[in-house]
Amino acid sequence: MEPPGAPLVGADLVVPCLDGTDRPYRDLDCAASTPALQVVADTVNEFLPWYSSVHRGAGYKSRRATAAYEGARESVHRFSGRPVDGDDVVVLVRNTTEAINHLAYRLRLAPDDVVVTTVVEHHANLLPWARVAQRRWVECGTDGTFGVDDVVAVLDDGQRPALLALTGASNVTGWLPPVEEICQEAHARGIPVLLDAAQLAPHRALPLGPDFLAFSGHKLYAPFGAGALIGPRSVFEHGDPFLAGGGAVDLVDLDEVIWTEPPDREEAGSPNVIGAVAFGVAMDELGRIGWEAIGAHEAALSARLHDGLRAMDGVRVLGPGRAAAAAAAAAAAAESLAVAPFTVDGMHHALVAARLSAEFGIGVRHGCFCAHPYLLRLLGVGPAGVAEARAAIQRGDRSAIPGALRASCGLGTSGEDVDALLDALRALVGGAPAPVAYVQDAVTGDFWPQGDSRGWGHGDRPAGAACARG
Ligand SMILES: Cc1ncc(COP(=O)(O)O)c(C=O)c1O
Repeated sequence: MEPPGAPLVGADLVVPCLDGTDRPYRDLDCAASTPALQVVADTVNEFLPWYSSVHRGAGYKSRRATAAYEGARESVHRFSGRPVDGDDVVVLVRNTTEAINHLAYRLRLAPDDVVVTTVVEHHANLLPWARVAQRRWVECGTDGTFGVDDVVAVLDDGQRPALLALTGASNVTGWLPPVEEICQEAHARGIPVLLDAAQLAPHRALPLGPDFLAFSGHKLYAPFGAGALIGPRSVFEHGDPFLAGGGAVDLVDLDEVIWTEPPDREEAGSPNVIGAVAFGVAMDELGRIGWEAIGAHEAALSARLHDGLRAMDGVRVLGPGRAAAAAAAAAAAAESLAVAPFTVDGMHHALVAARLSAEFGIGVRHGCFCAHPYLLRLLGVGPAGVAEARAAIQRGDRSAIPGALRASCGLGTSGEDVDALLDALRALVGGAPAPVAYVQDAVTGDFWPQGDSRGWGHGDRPAGAACARG
């Protein structure tokens, strides 16, 4: 279960713990952001001397920078299985959130158009649609999944939707909806599909069915602020781009503009060439490692994580995970990523996360994971609980916001990392006393250990919430 051969920057970090020791940092928060691949950092360093304006200079450096930027775009084409000379355009953006907002603007929906989406979505694939159209939702069952038939029923339930906006993998449970079958049903009804591939892209080959794809570099080992929106050229050929400005035009007079062709039309302003270079090389590297090796590593981690958590009294795992089909555990593992959301009986999620970090050097996320509707369903929080949380937030008190913990693995995660989490949780549910008192900040909801242990003193405390908001 050792990670596939892909060195990561910071793989050997140690972090201070409350007992005064330094421990290996166990990064079990890869669904949030991944560390940089070493080859990404090396390539960025090699490129930096050549850093220059893109599409804006005749100098040699500008030509090199422009070639590097366009080379990164080609990497996105290859990575997504959309040929450079095909019908699709790759727009380089900051991240998935920007990609979806960009598309929401660009589709020019009318206020009474309908977008079908699902309750499983990240806020990035919910909120942009609320601004521009009416929405219908696909609900999930208590295990956090839905079937193709559930999607079909919502597609057919009234006015024909202008778009189906669907996640490729849940950032909360790691569940992988049956994307290709869903796309077939949508296309049979003339409905285009946007796939939010933020979580899928680092773990599985991107499916060919969706018309639009959105994903982020910082989740696939390229943390330099680039991401991609991919879609049919025809969508971007007419009308105003999302951003107006230099680089997106052929001719401007004081009362006239002729927009240029996509993708440049969609990329006004000086582009993030460093981010693009990093993004491109990360995708090339994932291609070199291969999905088979990545999938095998993750399936083993997923089994270890889920089996270990589910066997623990006092820990409740949310969502389908490997329990989706007891009779077909291997198949179920293949249908979800190495991600596990869970709660610990009698302990606040923020306190568990704080203790894992301060006492064991383990990094997980807690809170609602920017997917409030989904998490509230998984936790079984009904309308009364939501009303209570709303009232508390409006009073500025975030101390009792419902939430869970999430452990998520990536290329650099080892079996030892998962075992370290399981051991630490066993200690916590077994009643191991905290070495110092933890105090909760009601404004952020976070807990912080008292005292001035190295790395955990008052001055080390980050301003604002570390985690829970979303
Ligand atoms: C499924 C999913 N969609 C969208 C996003 C938003 O990605 P970004 O923050 O890179 O815009 C995330 C981030 O966690 C995600 O997990």
